[in-house]
Amino acid sequence: MSTAEPTTRRRRGAFSSRKVFIFAAIGSAVGLGNIWRFPYVAYENGGGAFMIPYLVALLGAGLPFLLLDYALGHKYRGSAPLSFARLRRGAESLGWWQVGICFLIAIYYAAIIAWALRYMIFSVDEAWGAKPEEFLFETFLQAGDPGIDTTIVVGVLVPLAIVWGVVVLVMALGVEKGIGKLSLYFIPVLVVAFAALVVRALTLDGAATGLDALFTPHWAALTEPGVWGAAFGQIFFSLSIGFGVMITYASYVDEDSDMSGAGMVVGFANSGFELLAGIGVFAALGFMAQAQGMAVDEVAADGLGLAFVVFPTLISEAPAGALIGVLFFGSLVIAGLTSLVSVLEVVVSAVRDKLELGRVTAALAVSVPAAVVSLVLFSTTSGVHVLDIIDHFINQYGILLVAVVSMLVVAWSLRALPDLADHLNRTGSLKLGRTWFLLVGILVPAALTYILVDALVADIKEPYAGYPGWMLGWLGWGAAGGVIVLGVVLSRLPWRPETPLTAPYDRPDADQAVKKEEIR
Ligand code: PHE
Repeated sequence: MSTAEPTTRRRRGAFSSRKVFIFAAIGSAVGLGNIWRFPYVAYENGGGAFMIPYLVALLGAGLPFLLLDYALGHKYRGSAPLSFARLRRGAESLGWWQVGICFLIAIYYAAIIAWALRYMIFSVDEAWGAKPEEFLFETFLQAGDPGIDTTIVVGVLVPLAIVWGVVVLVMALGVEKGIGKLSLYFIPVLVVAFAALVVRALTLDGAATGLDALFTPHWAALTEPGVWGAAFGQIFFSLSIGFGVMITYASYVDEDSDMSGAGMVVGFANSGFELLAGIGVFAALGFMAQAQGMAVDEVAADGLGLAFVVFPTLISEAPAGALIGVLFFGSLVIAGLTSLVSVLEVVVSAVRDKLELGRVTAALAVSVPAAVVSLVLFSTTSGVHVLDIIDHFINQYGILLVAVVSMLVVAWSLRALPDLADHLNRTGSLKLGRTWFLLVGILVPAALTYILVDALVADIKEPYAGYPGWMLGWLGWGAAGGVIVLGVVLSRLPWRPETPLTAPYDRPDADQAVKKEEIR
């Protein structure tokens, strides 16, 4: 039986055009981090002066690193493990490590989207009443003390099941009809909804005070290493680089596409959205501070606190608050969904490549178990604690660590940068050379290492957020370490005989080989 014949093999999937790829990549990059992380990070780290480290991080580290991911996926035309395996067999475990991280991110990201979905409905009648914080923890999440408790919270279970229903469907529909279409339709909706929110926020009394607080430059901040670390950390997280997403998406792009040009578009679009979010969030915070007779720094917050405590308070306070609520939480849902499918696609494509499965089979084999784990872990009364811990540890010792390790391996141990640059330069509008090698080989790993060590010292000095040691041990360090072990174990499993492990561009019949990969 000639299983190796391209016609008998399954389509791997592809984006129908570079435009769809760009939308999907923006969909992945623009996420909760843009809306609830960036504004506060900028505010805390020098305000207007933060723009300098931020731009340095974007141009010097974010974009060069994004292009490295693109080059790997586009040249080797595989999921993260397959791309690394084609680069060098021994590097495959890096890809599986990324897959493990993405699986973990997916299961808790879905929970946050579910909360936002529920809050979109709560905003209509301001269901949180006079005490949004109590409402969040006691009425809505029914959170107990830190620990593990298996009492199901129906109010979370239902929206979470809905989110997973949508996600399973999108994943089963595939790269173009699922992820591509979702991003193509929803990114414009997100931009319009969010722009409307920003306009509304800017017309509230006190908006200017908020903007002042955000943009007044504190130049002294520029001398603090922590501020630079925050800028690089924000850029890495925000662009979804270094943990498999961009490798996977780039593997679905037509061979003749200008990838470096696409990278610029994605990078600037993501930062543009981030800036817009900063303006919207701080205009709204300015209004709230004024309404409550407080200073902006007393109301400013990020993450869950900003979205589920500060915004509800503000929605209750503002004229036509329900509209603000629906726009804000609706934006979180859309931004979150397009990021969620991107991390899940890392897992689906890896399983599909390794086992040579059909699209629907692989999508279901991955997303149904992910949904079950997510529902079990996060619709219970201990969900919020589990989420907080996994989020913290996976961001630091998952995303950042795998990024720095894989970059060092690619640059120094495999010395693959010149080949990868050549690959992008074939069709790219931006020519990569010495500067790119220096940035990717030295500046980026150095910045990442600095951030990691800094975080490690903080976590060792003081247990994260005061959680009990056993919880941090199992869910935090355990999860971050577990994915490394998983990576090594999975990379030991054999590939199917019909999966070629040479890079398509390096095969004797390169032209045809690349085409064949597309119909795999
Ligand atoms: N880039 C996304 C953001 O800014 C974050 C993200 C994290 C996306 C993890 C996918 C996975 O929010």
